[in-house]
Amino acid sequence: MAVAATTRIPTHVIAHLSDPHLLADGTLLHGRIDTAAQLRAALHRVESTDQRIDLLVLSGDLTDTGDPAAYRLLRELVEPVAARLHAAVVWTGGNHDERRPLAQVLFGVDTDAPQDTVTTVRGLRVIALDTAVPGHHDGGLSDEQLDWLARQLATPAPHGTVLVMHHPPIAYHSPWMQLLDFREPDRLRAMIGGSDVRAILGGHLHVTSFGTLGTVPVFVAGGVCYVDDAGAPPERLMALDGPQSWNLVEVHDDQVVGSVVPVARSETWPALNDEVRAYLAAVPTDRRRAVFARKHPPPDRSGEA
Ligand SMILES: [Fe+2]
Ligand SMILES: [Fe+2]
Repeated sequence: MAVAATTRIPTHVIAHLSDPHLLADGTLLHGRIDTAAQLRAALHRVESTDQRIDLLVLSGDLTDTGDPAAYRLLRELVEPVAARLHAAVVWTGGNHDERRPLAQVLFGVDTDAPQDTVTTVRGLRVIALDTAVPGHHDGGLSDEQLDWLARQLATPAPHGTVLVMHHPPIAYHSPWMQLLDFREPDRLRAMIGGSDVRAILGGHLHVTSFGTLGTVPVFVAGGVCYVDDAGAPPERLMALDGPQSWNLVEVHDDQVVGSVVPVARSETWPALNDEVRAYLAAVPTDRRRAVFARKHPPPDRSGEA
């Protein structure tokens, strides 16, 4: 069996946050959630990973009501973090957003048109699609948006493409959320089949969830503000003040890996103590797996009382 000699390092790292539902006037969401505090805490966790983050992705429901002040607050909270990380920011609208104030504050344009964007970082192309349908809570893409996407995908990117869209094209178990889902997953599936799309990042469900569209994996980031209790009966739609989270998405040459990072800090302890880490650091790289992966017999406690 081949043994990896070195640590695998992703080509690109994405911090994927979703659904901050920002309220700028201090109002608590659902009478419970301080949305600005939640986004601050999530962004602090992103910075605290102390690893390279190439892109900060926010996949919609950026604000709860489309209030321009909430978009300004979003920029105040996100942009300094992105600057310190030297990370590109990709944000797109959700059903709780409003196109015009989003376009005005985040993109500096006065329009009701969806702000679909292409951001390329060292050969990885991230295409954000605004799936919000004005006046509705379910999602979709217009013929014009799909035509635009087809034109983008006609030319592959060196490291492939990641799509960002608020409404994930997968079936969540809540019958209520299925009424608010992405309208035409079949059209999108047909379009990205055979393209260089490697992953779809979405939100909207307020719960960490995974699925596929054709052969493309779909990663849904749990809500930054509140979470849907996926353990409740599907016909209920029960919100939780926790465990809010974001997804650390690591893109390798041959795969895309998603890991869930909880926003709240719980007590931690070193699963690998300092002595072991120091010992392994002294082992040549090509010997580390052999040394670290070998199981050791449990200590003999037969003589203990
Ligand atoms: Fe949401
Ligand atoms: Fe949503």
